Amino acid sequence: MVRKVILDVDPGIDDAVAITMALFDPRLEVLALTAVSGNVAASQVNRNLQAVVEQLDPPRWPRLGAAAEPERRPDADARHIYGADGLGNANFPVAELHHLHASEKVLTDELRGDPGNVTVLALGPLTNVAATFRRDPALAGQVGHLVMMGGTISGPGNVTPAAEFNIYCDPLSARAVFRAPVTSTLVPLDVSSQVIFGYDLLDELPPENTRAGRFLRRILPHAFRTHRQVLGTEGIHLHDCVALVAVTNPELFQLERMAADVETAGELTLGATVFDRRPNRVWRPNLYVAVDVDVEGVKDSILRGIKQAGEATRD
Ligand code: RIB
Ligand code: CA
Repeated sequence: MVRKVILDVDPGIDDAVAITMALFDPRLEVLALTAVSGNVAASQVNRNLQAVVEQLDPPRWPRLGAAAEPERRPDADARHIYGADGLGNANFPVAELHHLHASEKVLTDELRGDPGNVTVLALGPLTNVAATFRRDPALAGQVGHLVMMGGTISGPGNVTPAAEFNIYCDPLSARAVFRAPVTSTLVPLDVSSQVIFGYDLLDELPPENTRAGRFLRRILPHAFRTHRQVLGTEGIHLHDCVALVAVTNPELFQLERMAADVETAGELTLGATVFDRRPNRVWRPNLYVAVDVDVEGVKDSILRGIKQAGEATRD
């Protein structure tokens, strides 16, 4: 059965690869792509979302939602990894920006349209998801499944020693979403960071006579350069693609029911995800957490998704 999904994204190169996979996965019906400020500012992430869909030009365009600048702009972005424009400095031209509804309105409309049957895949800060639940608290119970890329269980953060980027950018929204009555799964850095792609990924991209191949060849080399120059790694993570695979192939992940919350005030620990794993746990379990993963299985799924997108976008 085809699964209805909404991707809430802050493209960002790994978001863009996940969008490429999702748009051409026959197991998914992408109802909407909703932009959220994160890797780059709202105005840029809105341009990027439209650019990604224009470059890929799927047979049926999903609804697009526009990000708003967050009230409290975090002191972090990912331009040092994803480029000044967030997409490897490809600076894709964008047709005149369509008038887009706000992401939270698109999320609200689509969730109301099919209560209990829509999966929301949150691949950026949780600003839009929290705003949607604030707008109508009943909507939390109408999400079929919320899957979030974010946080860390016991591993180090990536934006501070304690915090992962998506949670750090908007810890108050993350806490609100963790505490909402929604069926949710968290895919933390502890799991997504185990999946690393070497330079041979560039040799496995779809050919130049495909829209997906041309698009991915424009954005991915930049990620390899910055991972080497900035992070000192010979290879790249595609965190958001791992979270997408948690939706399409959950059998590749080991999940545990856990009690989680978010530090919203710490000087050194702001944005840290905290789990109550005491023997005499007091906090109520509130979400599932991916604690282990079939790394090779996930890599194969991502490569298959990219290949599938190439086959679906031949000139
Ligand atoms: O920490 C990884 C997350 O931060 C990913 O979603 C990536 O796109 C960045 O937003
Ligand atoms: Ca992201």
